[in-house]
Amino acid sequence: IKKEARNPPKIKRGVLNKAVEDAKKLAAYAAVDYHVKDNQTVGIGSGSTIIHAVKRLAERVKAENLNILCVPTSSQARQLIHDNGLTVVDIKRHLEIDVAIDGADEVDSELNLIKGGGGCLTQEKIVASCAKSFIVIADYRKDSSALGEQWKKGIPVEVIPMAYVPVSRAIQSQFGGSADLRMAVSKAGPVVTDNGNFLLDWRFDQEHNWSAVNTTIKMMPGVVDTGLFINLAERVYFGMEDGTVKIR
Ligand code: 5RP
Repeated sequence: IKKEARNPPKIKRGVLNKAVEDAKKLAAYAAVDYHVKDNQTVGIGSGSTIIHAVKRLAERVKAENLNILCVPTSSQARQLIHDNGLTVVDIKRHLEIDVAIDGADEVDSELNLIKGGGGCLTQEKIVASCAKSFIVIADYRKDSSALGEQWKKGIPVEVIPMAYVPVSRAIQSQFGGSADLRMAVSKAGPVVTDNGNFLLDWRFDQEHNWSAVNTTIKMMPGVVDTGLFINLAERVYFGMEDGTVKIR
């Protein structure tokens, strides 16, 4: 009994990880198969779910001889596109993005998103807003009726380094909760984004009008962008635990 008591978290985590990974793959494959067509420019998001989408895209490009250009949202996405033998292009020259595909940390019933768990929210929002359609792929854990119900790490806000204390204070005094500097896992220092900035994670303690909150925070001096994606997502694919895909 003692031995079992020491071991279960490991076993459970393995089973959960497999279910979650399968769900991510389901969502990613469904979205790529339905939304990507020949001769398109595709925005490629960041995170772990997008890895499955890029793999599927590479399979299709090879099997169907497709001509696809990929716009990355981070250094991770750029490397991923490159590693899968796909063509990377720059948004400066390819403004017309047909479809952008990306993951999310949480999705509410109105398709408002929290993004930026991986710290790439600014580039992700730029690419999403330049795309004719923005498609989100996620596992079942991200499906929520109201923001904050599932995702407990808060809303990321990218700030220029000198502004992190004033912005943190301003968010807390206007909206409550706590807005904390994101630290590296090693705790050796703050996380630095691809843009050379810092991240605050704002853990809110009540429901808000997210559109208004997003606008107010964006107006604070030193804020680059927020991880609130309002009215951007056209469709969300959730991979479910039972092997189905739920589309919202
Ligand atoms: C990165 C993001 C990711 O899309 C988000 O964190 C979801 O990641 P994952 O697919 O690993 O769950 O916004 O900035």
